[in-house]
Amino acid sequence: VENVGIHAMEIYFPSQYVDQVELEKFDEVAAGKYTIGLGQSKMAFCTDREDIHSICLTVLHRLIEKNNINLHDIGRLEVGTETIIDKSKSVKTFLMTLFAKEGATDIEGIDTTNACYGGTAALFNAINWVESSSWDGRKAIVVAGDIAVYGKGPARPTGGAGAVAMLIAPDAPLVFDCGVRASYMTHAYDFYKPDLASEFPYVDGKLSIQCYLSALDNCYNLFSKKMRAIDPNFKGLLSLDGMLFHSPYCKLVQKSLARVSFNDFLNTPYEERESKFPGLSQFNEFKRENTYFDRDVEKAFMTYSKDLFEAKTKPSLHLARNVGNMYTPSLYGGLVSYLVSKSPEQLIGKKFALFSYGSGLASTMYSINICNDMSAGSKLEKLINSVNESVSLLEKRMSVEPQKFTNYMQVRTENYHTAPYEPSGPVDTLFPGTYYLVKIDDQRRRTYDRK
Ligand code: ACO
Repeated sequence: VENVGIHAMEIYFPSQYVDQVELEKFDEVAAGKYTIGLGQSKMAFCTDREDIHSICLTVLHRLIEKNNINLHDIGRLEVGTETIIDKSKSVKTFLMTLFAKEGATDIEGIDTTNACYGGTAALFNAINWVESSSWDGRKAIVVAGDIAVYGKGPARPTGGAGAVAMLIAPDAPLVFDCGVRASYMTHAYDFYKPDLASEFPYVDGKLSIQCYLSALDNCYNLFSKKMRAIDPNFKGLLSLDGMLFHSPYCKLVQKSLARVSFNDFLNTPYEERESKFPGLSQFNEFKRENTYFDRDVEKAFMTYSKDLFEAKTKPSLHLARNVGNMYTPSLYGGLVSYLVSKSPEQLIGKKFALFSYGSGLASTMYSINICNDMSAGSKLEKLINSVNESVSLLEKRMSVEPQKFTNYMQVRTENYHTAPYEPSGPVDTLFPGTYYLVKIDDQRRRTYDRK
């Protein structure tokens, strides 16, 4: 089996958003804190009409429809999410309602959870299956979805919601490199959800940033080492056409690219530093572990990497800036944004690295190659056209004022455990084809309809 990777993708985000400029005023914080300080423009949210089942059903159904997928050709369906409703029962089993209708029930895979990393773990499971002796020749689908909501306070503007679905099989236009995945996993209480009565996480913002950046250091250095082992000419960031990150908020991603440059600097022999990194020799003796919040290092390497950021990373932030943190789909929303920013001709033969981070913590850096031959070119074109259509829905969304958004959040919070329950959120504002919650009965069983 060769060239295992992504054949098709689909993305879903809610039809309503709150504007971050308006949210700054409403929250009475300094103008620019969310828009410039965090780099966010709009935040998508769901009313009580949508939950993790419905958003995953929406994105999966769209993927199936748009790509004419025969459900009997699917042998594995994986879900990555950290949005929990039925605890022991997976979201995957709910998605089986689409397959069971067609009598397709011989489908492996369930849910995978570790904060924003679950989508990547689900994706790896699917790739590994296709590359394994258990593979039966069918394709796999990976769905990553989350509704990211925080309680009132500084974390609230870093919420978001959305879902991504990916079709995985051999001979793909987007191919995963073998043998260079680099992971860093350890224990941290930076973000977790110990209160099962609430939809909100416990989050230590500062610690979460430190964990994210230290995971990035570890993954990037190990990834670079593995790349050098197969290609001695590998020169870190300079050898990559794109660098994509899990995006809790866009400013952290820009700082992360600067951090990658700082790592490249530290990995360069002393005698070559002045020619490759002019004017940065005052940082020669600096250590990674002491510099997570070092303003001088941050500023110097943000300046150094400005053009690299514009070229290699910024195109991947379109959805993150306009939807917010989608949690598990965030990195894959980055991939979609990157793809729609280019033409197939600009993408053929390119290589880019992706950094996935999930608090708690689990992280991996891996790379994707865009296939070189012409048949891959036409597959790629189809993929790009298809996601382009979905991304264009960004412009068809409705802005909701912060007070109304806060009221919707209040309704979600108050009714998180109400049963029986009939949602009050509007159906008419949903995009056509969106699944929505009709009711929860006294046994907490949920029923849905499709608009
Ligand atoms: N104009 C421009 N920038 C401003 C302004 C202004 N008027 N006011 C503040 N800022 C800047 C700050 O300087 C800061 O930028 P800096 O870090 O470059 O200095 C930025 O805006 C944010 O301001 P802070 O005061 O640092 O924000 P606060 O501590 O209130 O919250 C945080 C930020 C911690 C990210 C919070 O939103 C949070 O907890 N989010 C959830 C956790 C998270 O996303 N962590 C990331 C990795 S883990 C994960 O993926 C969940």
